[in-house]
Amino acid sequence: MKKILLVVGARPQFVKLAPVIKALKETTSFGLTIVHTGQHYDYMMSQVFFTELAIPEPNYNLEVGSGSQIFQISDILTKLTPVIQAEKPDMIMVFGDTNSTSAAALCGAVQQIPVAHVEAGLREFDKSIPEEINKLVTDALATLYFCPTPTGVKNLSNSGITDHVYLTGDVGLDLLFANRQKFSNPEQCLDKLNLSSKKYYFATCHRASNTNNIDNLKNILTAFGQLDYPVVFAVHPRTSKTLSENNLQHLINKNIILSEPLGFWDTQILIKNSKMVLTDSGGIIKEAYFHKVPSIIIDKQTEWVEIIDEAWAAIAGPSTENILKLMTNFESPLNHNQSLGDGRSAVKIAQIINEYFQHKK
Ligand code: UD1
Repeated sequence: MKKILLVVGARPQFVKLAPVIKALKETTSFGLTIVHTGQHYDYMMSQVFFTELAIPEPNYNLEVGSGSQIFQISDILTKLTPVIQAEKPDMIMVFGDTNSTSAAALCGAVQQIPVAHVEAGLREFDKSIPEEINKLVTDALATLYFCPTPTGVKNLSNSGITDHVYLTGDVGLDLLFANRQKFSNPEQCLDKLNLSSKKYYFATCHRASNTNNIDNLKNILTAFGQLDYPVVFAVHPRTSKTLSENNLQHLINKNIILSEPLGFWDTQILIKNSKMVLTDSGGIIKEAYFHKVPSIIIDKQTEWVEIIDEAWAAIAGPSTENILKLMTNFESPLNHNQSLGDGRSAVKIAQIINEYFQHKK
């Protein structure tokens, strides 16, 4: 029996793991071992996703916790190596672009184990972004590349990677295709926050370029405070920490409704019923696109260029003026091609891995 070690550690990876593990279980007989690096550890950043998305409990938790990119990567390397030696997997599967992704890819490659990368090929073309370093390292070392978009395939080809590259669509959206009933009754969630559908904005902000640069964070919060409808701001722990360490709470005016990190289904309800989304999270931009809600990107770039091309999102950057200008003039496009996947991306991945092992025998 072939064994796959699936390594996750941060919030966006749990969302990708859920459909992939379901598809692998339903369509293959591989042995599956989940390793949680412990990069995210608060209940609302980790366990809530395992519970809400019915993900099996991890077999290992490396309890890496918080720290710099170098600390997290090196601690994962040290702690994951003996797990790989004990489990002897036939493949290591990694997701997205976090420190857990690149560390696990490096660990697998060093031990000569094929690495499968889910969400391969995406680029932001700026090596000052921690996630970009993780993307580049992971794709340099992977064996199988599962790309969510044609741009992913093209980026890999431009860097000379053409073998075992597959356009599968985005696995994160599989969950939304399959569970529409979970976000079709918004009342309870909206009532709790005293909101009416399409009469508020939904916002998140956690990228290092925005939370480590106080001016950027100030510009973003100033814009939130001036919008024509209230802004539900689901605050990531990193952002919360920056706000309190720099005494920036005065920028949270009456127009901003602060919320702790939310569960996955409440997040979907709040995105779907919002007038627009403001975010620097790639995951939220995709989810907003799925729900046909426009996004204003409060970062300088995005890897989800298909959504920009379809005009469902626009890049404002961390500028008060640009955010306000784009929000005022934004018109939702008439067309929506649901071009990020058909809800069967994880099943395609399971089939490709099955074929890979059959040919390898
Ligand atoms: C990480 C990923 C990012 C992903 C994001 C989703 C990297 C480089 N970044 O960013 O790609 O979009 O997760 O959330 O891997 N913290 C807590 N509790 C937690 C987790 C984090 O309090 O459960 C705080 C700690 O103060 C920590 C800070 O958040 O220092 C940042 O966490 P970290 O895992 O380093 O990066 P994220 O900003 O979450």
